[in-house]
Amino acid sequence: MIEFRAVTKRFDDGTVAVNQLDLTVEAGIITVFVGPSGCGKTTSLRMINRMVEPTSGTILVDGQDVRAADPPRLRRGIGYVIQQAGLFPHRTVLDNVATVPLLSGWSRGRARHRAAELLELVGLPAELGRRYPAQLSGGQQQRVGVARALAADPPVLLMDEPFSAVDPVVREGLQDELLRLQDELDKTIVFVTHDIDEAVRIGEKVAVFREGGVLAQYAAPAELLARPADDFVAGFVGRDRGYRSLSFVDSGEVALDQVSTVAIGQPAGAPTAEWVLVLDEQRHPRGWLPPRSTVEGAVTEAGLTPGGSLYQAGTPLRGALDAALSSPSGLGVVVDERGGYAGVVTARQVLDLIERARPTATGAERGH
Ligand SMILES: Nc1ncnc2c1ncn2[C@@H]1O[C@H](COP(=O)(O)OP(=O)(O)OP(=O)(O)O)[C@@H](O)[C@H]1O
Ligand SMILES: [Mg+2]
Repeated sequence: MIEFRAVTKRFDDGTVAVNQLDLTVEAGIITVFVGPSGCGKTTSLRMINRMVEPTSGTILVDGQDVRAADPPRLRRGIGYVIQQAGLFPHRTVLDNVATVPLLSGWSRGRARHRAAELLELVGLPAELGRRYPAQLSGGQQQRVGVARALAADPPVLLMDEPFSAVDPVVREGLQDELLRLQDELDKTIVFVTHDIDEAVRIGEKVAVFREGGVLAQYAAPAELLARPADDFVAGFVGRDRGYRSLSFVDSGEVALDQVSTVAIGQPAGAPTAEWVLVLDEQRHPRGWLPPRSTVEGAVTEAGLTPGGSLYQAGTPLRGALDAALSSPSGLGVVVDERGGYAGVVTARQVLDLIERARPTATGAERGH
C-alpha cells in the first residue's frame, strides 16, 4: 500500500507540479495515474521512489515514511519501467535484466539464471538475451524493460508510460501481457499514461489528474466512465464514455421483456399492432413480422423482415446495445447460450443501466 498524504511538489522555479495530493494506492492491484501532459503524473510517481523529493506532505510505502529509507536501497525494492524501456545500450539484454540482482549482491551466475527466467516470463525467447537492445523491436525492448524491473522481485512496480512508444497493436499485446503477468505476480503497480483507453483497460483503480497537479477523481474505471466527478473528467474520459462503460456493466442486471412469438410453419394469427418475433423449431430467432402483417396460411422464412444482431445473455452489454440498435423493431433479441430466444431489450434500457452502472471492473470481468 502506498499513501500520499497532503503531498505537494513545488519546483525551484515556482511550478507547482503536484498540489496537496491525498491518495491511497491499494496493494496488489494496478492503479493508473492518467491526465493531460504536465499535470504531475511523473512527478507523483517519482516521489514514491525518491527520485523527486516532496516539498511538503508524506509518502508511506507499507506504512514506512519513504524519507526514512536510503534512496538507492528504496529504489532497488521498487521496480521502475519507463518509455523506450531505458535499457543500457552497451549491455546485452540478459545483462540488462540482471542489473538489479547484481547490484543487490547476487553472484553473476545466479543473476543471469534469474534474468533468463524473467525473459521467458515476459514472453521473450532465450536467444534474445545475447542481443543488444538496439537489435530488438520496440515491443521487445519494452518487455525487456518489464523483465528488468521485475528482476529483484520488488513488491512495487512503477511504470511511466511504458507502452506509449509502440504502435497500437503491439501496445495492446503488451497490455494483455501485463494483465497476465499481474494475475500471476500480484504486484502493487502504479502505471502512468496519457491515454484514458489504456487506463480503463488495465487499471483496477484510476486516478485522473488535472493541470496544476490536482487530483480530479479517483475511482474504478466503470465508476469513472459512468459518473465523472466534473466537467473536466467528463471531457477527458470522452463523449462516448457511456458506450465505453458498457464493457464494464454486469449484464446480469438486464431485465428482459417478452414479445409475441410465432414458430415457422405455424399460422401467424390475427394481425396485431406489435412486432412479432419468428422462431424456428429450436427457438432460434429467424426474423420479424412487422405490425399489422397479414400472413396467409403458415409463416415461412421467405416473408420475414430480417432481424439485427443477437445478444447472448451474460456477455458484455455493448452487444445488447448493438442488438437493439440493429433490430428493425428497436427491440434487441437476447438469446441463451444455445442460441434460443430468451427475451428482448431496448436501447433505452441498456442506456439506463449505464447511468446506474456500478463499478464491476474486477480482474475477471476485464477481458473485454
Ligand atoms: N525539474 C523540474 N523543474 C521545474 N518544473 C518541472 C520539473 N519537472 C517537471 N516540472 C513541471 O512540473 C509539471 C508536472 O510535470 P510532470 O513531468 O510530472 O507531468 P506529467 O503529468 O508527467 O506530464 P507528461 O504527460 O507530459 O509526461 C509540469 O509543468 C512540468 O513542466
Ligand atoms: Mg510524465
